Amino acid sequence: MPAGTPTDPPHLDTGRAHPARVYDWLLGGKDNHPVDEAVGEELPSEARDAARQNRRFMHRAAARLAGQGIDQFLDIGSGIPTEPNLHRIVQGVVPTAKVVHTDNGPIVLRHAEALLSSGPEGATDYVQADVRDPDGIIRHARGVLDFERPIALSLITLLHFLPDDQDPSASSVSRGPRCRRAATSC
Ligand SMILES: C[S@@+](CC[C@H](N)C(=O)[O-])C[C@H]1O[C@@H](n2cnc3c(N)ncnc32)[C@H](O)[C@@H]1O
Repeated sequence: MPAGTPTDPPHLDTGRAHPARVYDWLLGGKDNHPVDEAVGEELPSEARDAARQNRRFMHRAAARLAGQGIDQFLDIGSGIPTEPNLHRIVQGVVPTAKVVHTDNGPIVLRHAEALLSSGPEGATDYVQADVRDPDGIIRHARGVLDFERPIALSLITLLHFLPDDQDPSASSVSRGPRCRRAATSC
């Protein structure tokens, strides 16, 4: 884990729903609490199917990009690493692929070990960071990724968490310096 990542156990507020845990509940996972389930139950009934389809889209898109030779990925808003996560997918195609995962949720930090379980030939890293801090994310990502080469940027199911008054497109790392947009999905 890069320097600057909190080393203290993350504070988890289980009294308030968290997007990562609600998504986990929608996917049928176990890393959620009653408060997350309550929010999930309030969503339209299509939300569970939408979450599964979204996850499948992530799998297809990541595999396709890896199949086209992209071997560097910056995954922002990684979520709880429901298997297979993004680096498992791309390293299944390109074993030497390097992946940096980022999320601002303390719950995701608890799963950092799974996000760091790279295949032996590739590399993964995790940093707890907010997409509204593109410079900070890029600073960390440079420890693993070569910004002179193509990088696939995944913002899948993330930017709708930023209200319009926070200008989601301008705050995103895709506008960050020297981050060439090999692929972006939001
Ligand atoms: C619905 S999950 C998406 C997981 C994964 N990208 C996928 O598509 O399967 C959205 C994730 O975005 C994270 N998130 C929400 N706002 C964020 C922000 N401002 N910066 C970074 N991550 C954020 C949440 O913690 C959550 O884990």
